[in-house]
Order: sequence, then C-alpha cells, then structure tokens
Amino acid sequence: MRSSHADYFNHDGDAPGYDRDVADETNPVRAGYRALIDFVGARTPPDTDVLDLGAGTGNTVLALPLSCRVTAVDVSEKMLALAAGKLAGRNTAFIQDDILSFVHARDLAGFHVLVSTYALHHLTPGERGIMFRTMFEKTRPAVKIIIGDIMYKNDDDRNGIIEKYQVDYPDLASDFTDEFFWNVDESDADLKRSGWNAEWRRFSDLSWTVELVKT
Ligand SMILES: C[S@@+](CC[C@H](N)C(=O)[O-])C[C@H]1O[C@@H](n2cnc3c(N)ncnc32)[C@H](O)[C@@H]1O
Repeated sequence: MRSSHADYFNHDGDAPGYDRDVADETNPVRAGYRALIDFVGARTPPDTDVLDLGAGTGNTVLALPLSCRVTAVDVSEKMLALAAGKLAGRNTAFIQDDILSFVHARDLAGFHVLVSTYALHHLTPGERGIMFRTMFEKTRPAVKIIIGDIMYKNDDDRNGIIEKYQVDYPDLASDFTDEFFWNVDESDADLKRSGWNAEWRRFSDLSWTVELVKT
C-alpha cells in the first residue's frame, strides 16, 4: 500500500537547499527544528536498532547515539544521497521507498525504536492512522516510537497561528491546506483507539513531538 502523495512530496527538488532551509528558524514552519531533532536523539537509547521514516538528509540520524544501527527510509534518491555523505562512518542502511509501503511490507519486529521527523505530514490523516495501526501489529511489545512533526492543537489553535503570521508569512495558510499538518487532539484520540499511549511535547507554534508506547 503506497501513500497517495509520495511522488508529490518527494524532496528530490528540495535536496540541494534543504539543510540551509531548515537552519532558518525565523520561518514558523522551521522554528524548533534543531531542538526537536536533538530531543529525538536524546530520547533514543544507545546500542539499539532504529528505523528512521522519511530520513531526508540524515539530520535525525546524526543526532542519534553513535552506537545505534539505523535503517533510513526515504522516497527521495537525492535526499538519501546527501544523507549517505553526511553519515559516513555510522552504521546506516539506506532504503529508497515510500514509508507507508515499507511499514506494510517489512518485518518491523527487529527494531527497538522507530523515529520520524517532519515527514509524516506528507501522509493524509487516514494514511497516518493506517500506519499507526500497522505499526502496533508488527512491532515488538516494548517498541519506542518518537515522532516530531508539524502540528497544531486544534482548530482554534490553527486559526490563531495563521492569524499570528498572516503579515510576515502569508503563505502559511495555504501550507495548512496543501500539506497534512497534524491536529493533536484528533490524532491523540485516533492513536488511543489503535492501542497507543501518546505523550505530546510542543517545541514552537508548529513543532511538536509525540512519543508512543503500547498500552
Ligand atoms: C521535510 S523532509 C524531513 C527530512 C528529515 N527527517 C528532517 O527532519 O530533516 C521530509 C522527507 O520525507 C520524504 N518523504 C515525503 N513523503 C514520503 C513518503 N511517502 N515516503 C517516503 N519518504 C517521503 C521527503 O523526500 C523528505 O526527504
């Protein structure tokens, strides 16, 4: 099962400028990026097998303990090529694939930790729901899942954020319709229905993490 927007959100065209782009945290979509990535790294135990979904240029893998053995999945050949250059010397396998297809097709029981940063908003909320139910079925009981992404608490919060940035970042309103930023309240209910216990943290107006363990 392939996600419906994998080709549209393939970052091949963004790859050359991606790391420069994420360093500009004056942009509300980028604010909190570094702190969030460092948090995901710090929450990942050393000497574990880690799956990174939507690994991009490898910034999250770089933040993980050096002793982790990582499988980095991304649909973009060019993002993965940049990651491979940055991650030389780390124990990393690179797989070019759609992340929903990967989770469906592969055995996930070998991974202690699943991480993903700023990638799952490229799946529709329905596809994310399918992914979380599939992960629940296929991962080991003690698996740890740490996700960072672009999120808002609820519709009032979204409207307040759009209003706050309407002068300096007028395109932000259309980002909310072009991409699938998470509604935290709705996602929390969906995750609980799938059996996950979810712990949420906010790093900026739009950057949040959620840590999942099985109930
Ligand atoms: C915004 S970047 C985030 C990259 C990295 N995790 C980070 O935090 O910097 C999103 C990445 O997800 C990848 N991507 C988007 N949709 C995807 C899909 N359906 N399957 C696999 N990768 C996907 C893009 O190619 C891109 O590399």
